[in-house]
Amino acid sequence: MNKKYSIMKKIYILLISSFILLAGFISPHKNINKLPTDFINIDGKTLVIKKGCTLCHHTDKKIVGPSLKDISSKYESNMSKILNFLEGKSDPIVQPEEFQYMKPVLNQLKHASKEEREAIAKYIAGLK
Ligand code: HEC
Repeated sequence: MNKKYSIMKKIYILLISSFILLAGFISPHKNINKLPTDFINIDGKTLVIKKGCTLCHHTDKKIVGPSLKDISSKYESNMSKILNFLEGKSDPIVQPEEFQYMKPVLNQLKHASKEEREAIAKYIAGLK
C-alpha cells in the first residue's frame, strides 16, 4: 500500500467516524431527550425545583417558608393532606400567619396538572 493511499484512507475513516459521531450526538439526541424530560416532569423533586418552590423552601432549614421536612412532619407524611392544601382544599397549618406569601403559589399550581401536584405532594410527604 503506498503512503498517499494510506493517508487518504485515514482521512476517509476519520470523516466517516466523525459523521457517525455527529449523527449519534445530534439526531437521536433530540428524540432521546424527549423521553427522559417527560419522565422528569412528573418527578416531584425536579418539579419542586422547576416550579420555584426551592426559592422559598429548603429541605432542612427555614428560609422564607418552613423547611420541606417540617412541612412533612406537620402533615405526618400524609401525602393526600398535603395535596389538599396544594389544591386549596384545606387551610394552612404550618405557619398560617405567613400564608400570604404562599397563597400566590397555590394560584400558580392550579395551572399545573393533577399528576404534577400529586408528584410534588408525594415528594414532600416522603421527606424525613
Ligand atoms: C414566595 C415564597 C414561597 C414559594 C415560592 C413557595 N412557598 Fe410554600 N410556603 C411559603 C411560606 C411563607 C409558607 C408558610 C405559610 C403557610 O404555612 O402557609 C409556605 C408553606 C407551604 C406549605 C405548608 C402549608 C401549610 O399547611 O401551612 C406547603 C405544603 C408549601 N408551602 C409548598 C410549596 C410548594 C409545593 C411550592 C412550589 C410549588 C411552594 N411552597 C413555593 C412560601 C413559599
